[in-house]
Amino acid sequence: MARHLLTGSELTRADLDALLRRAEQLKVAPHSSRALDGRTVALIFEKPSTRTRLSFEAGVVELAGHPMILHRGDLQLSRGESVADTARVLSRHVAAVGVRTGPDELLKELSAVAVVPVFNMLTAGHHPCQALADLMTLRERFGGLHGLRVAYVGDGNNVARSLALLGATAGVEVVVASPPGYTLNGGADRARLVEDPAEAVRGAHAVYTDVWVSMGDEATAEQRRGDLAAYRIDDALLDRAAPGAVAMHCLPAHVGEEITAAVLYGPREAIWDQAENRRHAQKALLEWLVSG
Ligand code: CP
Ligand code: NVA
Repeated sequence: MARHLLTGSELTRADLDALLRRAEQLKVAPHSSRALDGRTVALIFEKPSTRTRLSFEAGVVELAGHPMILHRGDLQLSRGESVADTARVLSRHVAAVGVRTGPDELLKELSAVAVVPVFNMLTAGHHPCQALADLMTLRERFGGLHGLRVAYVGDGNNVARSLALLGATAGVEVVVASPPGYTLNGGADRARLVEDPAEAVRGAHAVYTDVWVSMGDEATAEQRRGDLAAYRIDDALLDRAAPGAVAMHCLPAHVGEEITAAVLYGPREAIWDQAENRRHAQKALLEWLVSG
């Protein structure tokens, strides 16, 4: 049975701890591993991406492998070939398969048939690779994870769910503040849910947000901007967090919506390190996946 990363629940605390330590080593010595020597990793994108594509493509090359970028229209999948048959053929050629798509079920189906590792590069439900980079960034900033508190402010979406899930595995307390109708579900057992952003950020070491309109939510964009208007990270909200608190965002940012320019480009941001740490954390993940 190949190792997979569909939600992040596949990782024990010990796995996660080892993976984050390995990511730190790889950040210091980016070309020190040849874990994918001469092997190909398929990266299937059914949705747009900047960071995930850049970090995986560059990361696979740094591990001495070949990244094969595939968009939906490149595959017979787009003409009705089944997910299972696609998985069978992928397994004959590549060392691992990353997928960015909407339905979590597609990933489940693929991983049920694939005999090589399958990993989630973002679905409607989860974004575990983002959470790995987020935890790596928190470790860098605070020297450890256990006992940290992170407040997530905004839409209870895929990014919030993965942060809650993997944060809990690492011993981080995650508090999620959302308005009615946007509450985190299916991850909620791992996080404390509140409505008031000020309550969420009290005592928090990091204040995290994500876009109000995720990919696939475009039809309700205007409604969302109205409903989430009070869930913006600005300096006043950050001032209510613990002294030394950092601002986090998975990006892409919509300046003036979920975050102000003063925070995004200001002295308290950890955001651009999060974007860089995607590559280091995912290289450690790829090593873990292919060594299973
Ligand atoms: N944070 C993130 O996954 O960014 P992209 O959508 O640009 O890959
Ligand atoms: N929640 C966002 C994250 C983008 C990286 C989305 O799914 O579009």
